[in-house]
Amino acid sequence: MANTLVIVGGQWGDEGKGKIVDFLAEKAQVVVRYSGGNNAGHTVMVGGATYKFHLLPSGIVHKGTLNIIGNGTVIDVEVLQREIATLEKAGFKVDEQNLAISSAAHVITERHKQLDTSEHSQKIGTTGRGIGPCYMDKIGRHGVRMSDVAASVKRLKPHIKDTVTLLNQAIHSGKKVLFEGAQATLLDVDHGTYPYVTSSNPTAGGACTGTGVGPTKIGAVTAVFKAYVTRVGEGPFPTELGTYEQAKQETSFSNLTPEAGMKIKRDVQAKANRNSDYDIGRYLRMQGMEYGTTTGRPRRTGWFDAVAGRYAVMVNGLSSFCLTKLDVLGGLKEIKICDSYGGSADFSAAGLSQAKPSYLTMKGWEQDISKVREYDELPQAAQEYVEKIEELLGVPVAIVSVGPKRDQSIVRTSLL
Ligand code: GDP
Ligand code: IMO
Ligand code: MG
Repeated sequence: MANTLVIVGGQWGDEGKGKIVDFLAEKAQVVVRYSGGNNAGHTVMVGGATYKFHLLPSGIVHKGTLNIIGNGTVIDVEVLQREIATLEKAGFKVDEQNLAISSAAHVITERHKQLDTSEHSQKIGTTGRGIGPCYMDKIGRHGVRMSDVAASVKRLKPHIKDTVTLLNQAIHSGKKVLFEGAQATLLDVDHGTYPYVTSSNPTAGGACTGTGVGPTKIGAVTAVFKAYVTRVGEGPFPTELGTYEQAKQETSFSNLTPEAGMKIKRDVQAKANRNSDYDIGRYLRMQGMEYGTTTGRPRRTGWFDAVAGRYAVMVNGLSSFCLTKLDVLGGLKEIKICDSYGGSADFSAAGLSQAKPSYLTMKGWEQDISKVREYDELPQAAQEYVEKIEELLGVPVAIVSVGPKRDQSIVRTSLL
């Protein structure tokens, strides 16, 4: 157990960081976002309600938790104000006691958003939120910081503070702190599939620079991995099932009657179990509702990639991992895990496009596991799948998630 825990995305984003942070926030006094902006979309389900946070830390729905938007983030002031207003409408209080915004965080301007529609941004498949151009101005040393706009943004002004001192004091007094990663390891500007990456450091090191907390004050680092892999936007994806082009052409489920939707799902499942790669990918997309929280784009889907997983263990110094969406794999006869690229692994875009993945084949399970709360009650095949991933990554699983709700979590080791 640690007092300060960094939670990073282990893959290409949308692993369920919001759900895991919200689950762990019950035991924390502080939750801090350290990188990215509203390119992130973190889903939290509380009771019957679903909240999608882009800038607010996922601890914000917990009473008595201080939420900090750290200096490493980039802020669209309009979006943040809207997010606060939505939460207030839903009956939550957002005041100086539970939200602090770093005066050194950079501001996304209209110009940044315009620049993010460029041909280059489209080639990368960015979220178009002005993230890259804002970080360019930050590094170019002509950016605008929250301290510069504080006076003109009345709603946010009381929240804008020296969060570095605030956070370090909280740590010094023994408070439990969660560092909420956004984006993910393979989207890191230094360690990801460059140039198909975001413009910040979502990996564990970014938690220090993005908050002003020194490395010796970090107790542990965990990553959230999906039980399979998804990616939105362009860039290499060795274990992809089907192609992005195919995913983009699928008809949206929201226009179908539930009966028509069920029929398609059954057909796709049958084809998936006859080993059609594209249909396995589509099955995962349908079961996992893999459509972007921020942009609504279909997510590309693929088998769990243990080579990329081991890389995430290395660059983040992981001591454990959390595995989400295990429930989504139910109904597949066989499940594969990539355990080799057929040579040395190079995670730049050029390097990764040379990977020749080979797979272990594991047995699937039929049962719906979304109501399981004890590890031993998972089907044998599901346990074997989790344990094979532990073996391949070389670090233990701390939480297994079997559904989007807070209580759909099986704890193997206490993290906080
Ligand atoms: P994040 O960006 O890493 O916070 O992840 P997102 O919120 O963008 O995407 C994860 C999606 O999966 C959300 O819709 C969650 O509600 C959902 N989710 C999280 N954990 C689980 C799980 O264990 N099972 C299922 N079925 N859904 C999950
Ligand atoms: P969360 O925190 C998934 C991807 C974009 C694009 C690339 C660059 O919800 O996991 P950007 O707008 O950052 O310049 O886009 O990064 N991307 C994400 N993919 N989840 C995210 O956040 C992402 N944030 C950025 O799709 O490929
Ligand atoms: Mg997301």
